[in-house]
Amino acid sequence: MACWAFLVLSCLILPVLTTDPAVLIVSFDGFRHDYFDRISSPNFDRLKKIGSHGDLMNVFETKTFPNHQSLATGLYPESHGVLANHVFDPQYNRTVNYSAELWHYNDQIMPIWTLNEISSKERNSGVMMWPGSEFSYHRGVVPTFIHKWDSKWSFQRRVDVVMSWLTQQHNSANLVMLYMEEPDTHAHAFGSESDEVTEQIKNVDSYIGYLADQLERHNLTESVDTFIVSDHGMTETDEHRIIDLNKIIDSSLYLRVGTSPVIHIYPNPGELPNLLRQLEWASQQYRTFDVFTKDNLPEHWKVANCRRAPPILLVAKEGYAFDDLRQAIVDYAKKYNFTPSSSHRYGLHGYDNLERKMQPFFLAFGPSIREDYQAPQLHSIDLFSLWSHMLRLPAHATNGTLSADALSLLRAHHITPSLSSLLITFTCVSLAVLIIGGTGIVATRRLINKRHSDECTQPYRGMQSLEVEENEEIMVEIVNGNVEEQHLLSGDSS
Ligand SMILES: *[C@@H]1O[C@H](CO)[C@@H](O)[C@H](O)[C@H]1NC(C)=O
Ligand SMILES: *[C@@H]1O[C@H](CO)[C@@H](O)[C@H](O)[C@H]1NC(C)=O
Ligand SMILES: *[C@@H]1O[C@H](CO)[C@@H](O)[C@H](O)[C@H]1NC(C)=O
Ligand SMILES: *[C@@H]1O[C@H](CO)[C@@H](O)[C@H](O)[C@H]1NC(C)=O
Ligand SMILES: [Zn+2]
Repeated sequence: MACWAFLVLSCLILPVLTTDPAVLIVSFDGFRHDYFDRISSPNFDRLKKIGSHGDLMNVFETKTFPNHQSLATGLYPESHGVLANHVFDPQYNRTVNYSAELWHYNDQIMPIWTLNEISSKERNSGVMMWPGSEFSYHRGVVPTFIHKWDSKWSFQRRVDVVMSWLTQQHNSANLVMLYMEEPDTHAHAFGSESDEVTEQIKNVDSYIGYLADQLERHNLTESVDTFIVSDHGMTETDEHRIIDLNKIIDSSLYLRVGTSPVIHIYPNPGELPNLLRQLEWASQQYRTFDVFTKDNLPEHWKVANCRRAPPILLVAKEGYAFDDLRQAIVDYAKKYNFTPSSSHRYGLHGYDNLERKMQPFFLAFGPSIREDYQAPQLHSIDLFSLWSHMLRLPAHATNGTLSADALSLLRAHHITPSLSSLLITFTCVSLAVLIIGGTGIVATRRLINKRHSDECTQPYRGMQSLEVEENEEIMVEIVNGNVEEQHLLSGDSS
């Protein structure tokens, strides 16, 4: 009986002991890959030593919404549909802003928090202010924990709530995504090289320190793998580098969508050749912006194959902006209470993702993450695959891969999911065999010693068959666990 208790306990405890660490993903908006070179950053330096860090190759447009959705889905913009912060969608015949229509491009869109949530009852997602997370995906699934964006919440408050999601007794979160709008917001108003942004970088360093301290205080350092990522980098412009589109083309001849430095142009019927000629002439003349049509969009942007791809797309040259920046300047001046001077710089992003200044960074640390490792540049669309792998989620088709570079972040002793589940099964089966064999032999000896008759084999047989039945039940449970995953897998791909 004691042996039985041991077997059952082992099989119950083993999976608990080998539970995969939770994954916590924190995004700081607009954190350029080299920002930490600018200041002393004790917290970043400390965590860099115990973890891995590097640059990210993000997606075009190098704006907040497209990049957060690519991080969350592993899809290129043309496949998740969030080409920009504002898009014209022919399906609705109107400009779509931040709304369910923008994010829920089609029913196939599957953010990792949704995949995690539906994969098993034990998996719970918590999403704190991540862009696009308050809308439902996959037939109405919402994360267990969700908090909409609220700029009045300090970073500390966001972390405190996230810690409660990770530590609560029942249904704690095993995947958490957390968003912070700095240092992007200050960079827009004061320029990427400003003292104000340097101050924000210092803040981010202390935020990271606070996060690490809280993980320690809650005893989570061995059970949570943390990724700090960003969506895009930053450059700057000023009022002398503003392109007046109205002086180039007649604004009554087209619909204009989007914000600097990328503008989508929807010509009125019959106006496309005319507008294109004027735009191309101005582009050659001034060399301050580039003109693309749907047919010659750069391949690496992965935006053409989408109903939201515009007939004409304009991108300002790095450091230049279109005239919509004038209204933005008025808003920044009001928000931060300054008088715009002609030398005032303004931060801007959205340019080609191959522009070095548009690229963000990442830092990862935790029980599965390699120590003191400078990783090669990772593709942000590959992170979905890495996180899925770490969380043992069922395979899901994305545009990313579980690349060797992404896998290089994991410690050598990190047991791959299939191996660890194999190990559990193997241990349980071996224990069962040993104990059944052992009790069998002991029982037989006792019986032989006690009575020397033929009847004595009866209770022994009965006992053995009972043991086999119970053992089968346990195995069926283990197998069922796998069946459930397989079922989800085939359900998703249909
Ligand atoms: C789209 O909306 C515009 C007005 O905004 C209208 O003129 C046009 O007919 C609409 N197109 C379709 C296909 O409904
Ligand atoms: C989206 O925002 C633009 C201005 O940025 C506005 O012109 C448009 O009407 C908005 N669309 C909707 C559906 O609210
Ligand atoms: C963390 O672990 C320590 C030592 O095991 C214990 O004293 C403390 O209460 C734990 N704290 C929390 C928040 O669980
Ligand atoms: C990206 O993934 C989607 C969904 O699996 C697929 O339809 C699309 O063809 C992929 N795009 C590329 C360029 O591979
Ligand atoms: Zn921004």
